[in-house]
Amino acid sequence: MQAYGPILARIYDRRWSAFAARAAAAILAFYESARPGRAPGALLDVCCGTGQLALHFLERGWRVVGLDASESMLAHARRHAAAHVAAGRARFVPGDAAAFNLEERFGLAVSTFDSLNHLADEKELAGCFRSVHRALATGGLFVFDLNTRLGLRRWDGVTLADSDEEWSVTHRGFYDEAARRGGSRIAGLVSRPDGSRENFEETVVNTAFDLGRVERLLGETGWSGVRFARLDDLAVALARPEGEGRVFVVAAKEGNS
Ligand SMILES: C[S@@+](CC[C@H](N)C(=O)[O-])C[C@H]1O[C@@H](n2cnc3c(N)ncnc32)[C@H](O)[C@@H]1O
Repeated sequence: MQAYGPILARIYDRRWSAFAARAAAAILAFYESARPGRAPGALLDVCCGTGQLALHFLERGWRVVGLDASESMLAHARRHAAAHVAAGRARFVPGDAAAFNLEERFGLAVSTFDSLNHLADEKELAGCFRSVHRALATGGLFVFDLNTRLGLRRWDGVTLADSDEEWSVTHRGFYDEAARRGGSRIAGLVSRPDGSRENFEETVVNTAFDLGRVERLLGETGWSGVRFARLDDLAVALARPEGEGRVFVVAAKEGNS
């Protein structure tokens, strides 16, 4: 499991929440066109992070369960969605995306910003597909994204610096072709509440899953209608998904699956 630590969660909350908000709007619009006439229902957000995607749905009448391995990320999510948590419309629960069991049933499940690339291998990915399938109601949809091998390779050797009054860190991208793993080493100095600074280092690792195998694993774990698409057009299947840096995957839980 790659539960983000408290400092990475703090940086993430300030720097990287925008993608989830953008993805939320596109996924909800897609769901409404794919399942017309349905009232806002229940959303499962797998690897929910700081809750930005959840918030978009909550503000539009959905109920949300967000699951994440990081208590630090969950704490940000609970803070952002505090009113909805207090009203009993949102829950942010600790759990492992590779193997979980929830009592509720959901009409839509999502997992965004390459979260499922954090799973170590196909066994974990299949475990995730199985867990989400169990949690969805019949007719439900699962929409998630993955960095492709091409997307992960692009970061190899790329260094980015990020500093402000609270931190001064570098992100060093790496990619190991043989292991099909890449990611980023984030290291530097971060300020404490008393103004002093502490050293920080955390490595985020992504697995580059073969998309043909992803499609097969989805089929083996009960999913139908699988397609790879771009966020801005989730209804249209890509002819060459491995040619993209990131793909969205849409899958359905049909009546007999
Ligand atoms: C890149 S962030 C994405 C967060 C959010 N989905 C978004 O779009 O902003 C990845 C998240 O996955 C969580 N995570 C990583 N491995 C996990 C696992 N095995 N089970 C549950 N959460 C996991 C991390 O703690 C982190 O919050």
